[in-house]
Amino acid sequence: MLWKDKYELGVPLIDEQHKELFRRVEVFIQTVRSSAAWDEKIGKVNETLEFMKVYVVEHFNAEEGYQRSIEYPGYDMHKKIHDGMVSYVLSVSEEYEKSGCDEKLMLQFAGKLLAWLINHVAADDQNIASYAKEKGVDGNER
Ligand SMILES: [Fe+2]
Ligand SMILES: [Fe+2]
Repeated sequence: MLWKDKYELGVPLIDEQHKELFRRVEVFIQTVRSSAAWDEKIGKVNETLEFMKVYVVEHFNAEEGYQRSIEYPGYDMHKKIHDGMVSYVLSVSEEYEKSGCDEKLMLQFAGKLLAWLINHVAADDQNIASYAKEKGVDGNER
């Protein structure tokens, strides 16, 4: 399991979404890297990709809402990072469709997605929790 409890922000909804993202990305990595033939795993890969496109947006919206509720000063910057990730996911997905489900593209994407998720959750998202703590606004009382 790649998730670590130290990634928790103390906001139950956000923490649950982060855990779900880690779970899904982990399965995604395992699937694309498994020795099974590409044709055999393409269904699962496509399913995860479709899930990610929706869930990432849902999570970012929830997290941005939380940031606004505590008047997080890094909101604009953070939103830009989220927006950049959404466009990246959408552009890869488009390229993937155009390429007729290219395996190499998904292998690359899975690796990037995992690295991004870990970096973002462990650093950028943690900054939100540090601010909330500093300001004395607990994740549960909003
Ligand atoms: Fe997040
Ligand atoms: Fe975030």
